Amino acid sequence: MADSTEWLDAGDAGELATRPLQQVRIGRRQFAVSFVDGRFHAIDGRCNHVGGPLGDGTLDPAGYVTCPWHGWKFHCATGRGEPGYEGDAVPSHATKVDGGRLWIASEPSTPRTRLPHEPHPLAKIRSRGEAGGPPADAPLRVLGISTTNMNEALPRYSTSDALLATAIEHAAARGLDTRLIRLSELSFRACEGYYSKSARACTWPCSITQMDPADQMDRVYEGMVAWADVILVATPIRWGAASSLYYRMAERLNCVQNQETIANRHLMNRKVAGFVITGGQDNVQGVAGQLLGFFAELGCQFPQFPYVAHSRGWSAEDMENNVRVVQRSAALHDGARSLVDRCVETVRALLDGHLRATPPARGGRKAHRLDGDEPAREG
Ligand code: FES
Repeated sequence: MADSTEWLDAGDAGELATRPLQQVRIGRRQFAVSFVDGRFHAIDGRCNHVGGPLGDGTLDPAGYVTCPWHGWKFHCATGRGEPGYEGDAVPSHATKVDGGRLWIASEPSTPRTRLPHEPHPLAKIRSRGEAGGPPADAPLRVLGISTTNMNEALPRYSTSDALLATAIEHAAARGLDTRLIRLSELSFRACEGYYSKSARACTWPCSITQMDPADQMDRVYEGMVAWADVILVATPIRWGAASSLYYRMAERLNCVQNQETIANRHLMNRKVAGFVITGGQDNVQGVAGQLLGFFAELGCQFPQFPYVAHSRGWSAEDMENNVRVVQRSAALHDGARSLVDRCVETVRALLDGHLRATPPARGGRKAHRLDGDEPAREG
């Protein structure tokens, strides 16, 4: 009987045999082609998780391909998931060598199957007014995020924390719901750069959060993305920059901004951010610029004069005086309270529809391919 299989030409067999595993593209199709003990195998090249290129991963001695994005494993010949996850399978395809070429059967021998994976709780969070989210008329919520580092056993007076505490107390006194997250009390990993493999490898919820239940960045995500209407971030100035904890948090928030890039999805809607920036030396404006730029890309709005700051300047290396000034200064603490009031006023305007959130056009925003940027045509 004639062979009715449609075979796809995968390339020179001798050349393909030089690597144990590789991603082979044939038209729009992708296969993870392996060469083990003198035999070729092919499975679909797109991982069941979020489509990572399996052939760009690694092959272990037991014949499992590890996805390069987040480590899911599939057998190189059968496509079945690693032991315990066999029901999570990618399609497998027959192969043959003919005329010095490797051929892959177009139709799979076994189908793609998926085990049910309970979505991470963060995948289900909803914003104010959305079904399943906080009621539209719930009291406004003010989230303080302290990014200063601290030896909790030997605590010190932190000027940024002190002004943040004043702001939060003021919000509570106004009858608003308040929450304070101190990053120094959380255990969370630094961003591991899944985005640097591919924008789609940086997932929402964060890949680390989904893989590591002990990682406590989920509290920041839940607080900022779901809970808060107003986000107040307080940072010291360390060598002219925000604190290292701020940057660790900001890097982990890439997954929130990345949803704009890969899915045009606004996780942060109708939220207002304000900042407290203090330092013994200078560069308030540089730090504020970074914070404003980043929170703008997250989708936040800002009040008029969106930060309060204090710095003693370059010539005064006298931190004791710096602390004393902040402790004694009624103006700085009034400023922190006033920042809360401005943020609340702005978020009320947003929630009441006075600043209507129209769907923003993508042109000119981060990671939008321009329509004038098509490759030049030949001839
Ligand atoms: S493990 Fe393959 S895409 Fe995430």
